[in-house]
Amino acid sequence: MGHILVKDVRKEYVERRGARRRMNSDPDLRSGNHLPVLDGIDLEFANGELVCILGPSGCGKTTLARVIAGFDRPTSGTVLIDGEKVKGPSSEHIFVFQHSGLFPWMTVWENVRLGARHMKEKEEMAAKVQEHLDVVNLTGYEHLYPHQLSGGMQRRAELARALVADPEVLFMDEPFAGLDFLTRLKMREEIINMHELIQKTIVFITHDIDEALVMGDRVVVFTERPAKVRLDLKLEFPHPRDFHSYDELERLRRDVYTELGVHYAL
Ligand SMILES: Nc1ncnc2c1ncn2[C@@H]1O[C@H](COP(=O)(O)OP(=O)(O)OP(=O)(O)O)[C@@H](O)[C@H]1O
Ligand SMILES: [Mg+2]
Repeated sequence: MGHILVKDVRKEYVERRGARRRMNSDPDLRSGNHLPVLDGIDLEFANGELVCILGPSGCGKTTLARVIAGFDRPTSGTVLIDGEKVKGPSSEHIFVFQHSGLFPWMTVWENVRLGARHMKEKEEMAAKVQEHLDVVNLTGYEHLYPHQLSGGMQRRAELARALVADPEVLFMDEPFAGLDFLTRLKMREEIINMHELIQKTIVFITHDIDEALVMGDRVVVFTERPAKVRLDLKLEFPHPRDFHSYDELERLRRDVYTELGVHYAL
């Protein structure tokens, strides 16, 4: 399972700093300034879909992910996961992939085992940890500490920890930030392969338009803050995808760039 329904979600943050000072001159600001971030978001993600979310910096992508994951409450509207209203975070249903989220004092094995801590049977847990280390090609590196790994290996260890938790939905908020170009391309391939294997719903936030189009079953593009859905594309091109093989994909790519204000530097 992992069906997500976002219904007319709005989110405003209230800036309280300085509110007391301004209160004297303007009683309407008694409760602080309101910053609208999400402006009536309606989205539905199918079970097992890999959804890429694009949008200008500061438009509200992370906020939407936090609201869906239950870390933050919408100001109005609802989020349902598998038909149930999200009321708070749930480690059983959701795993947030955080970069730099490895504990430096734990080995790769110990870090990944954290994802499997819900398992009662020690042997089953060990087998699962090993299986997922194999999936991300870290076999043989189990006993190293994070600082002994390259950036790409650290991300793969984080990915193994997320996968071993066997979540219904996996959130990835710019998981490749800071990786070099080639490692980033290889990580893309690994996520695509892993997704084909596990078929879980993944919400993947990125700034990279090509990355979204190469990876996603769906690509959602937001406007500037307050975010509205500007484009919602269903991509049914098989993997591996490349822009030269699919004219339609190349056309969509140009549309997305144009929507985001880039006209010819492609
Ligand atoms: N806890 C908070 N309190 C107040 N304002 C917040 C809070 N979290 C985010 N914001 C504001 O909400 C807006 C959207 O932030 P968000 O982190 O969702 O953007 P984003 O689309 O993920 O941006 P980026 O691409 O840079 O990561 C920003 O203006 C930010 O300052
Ligand atoms: Mg963000």
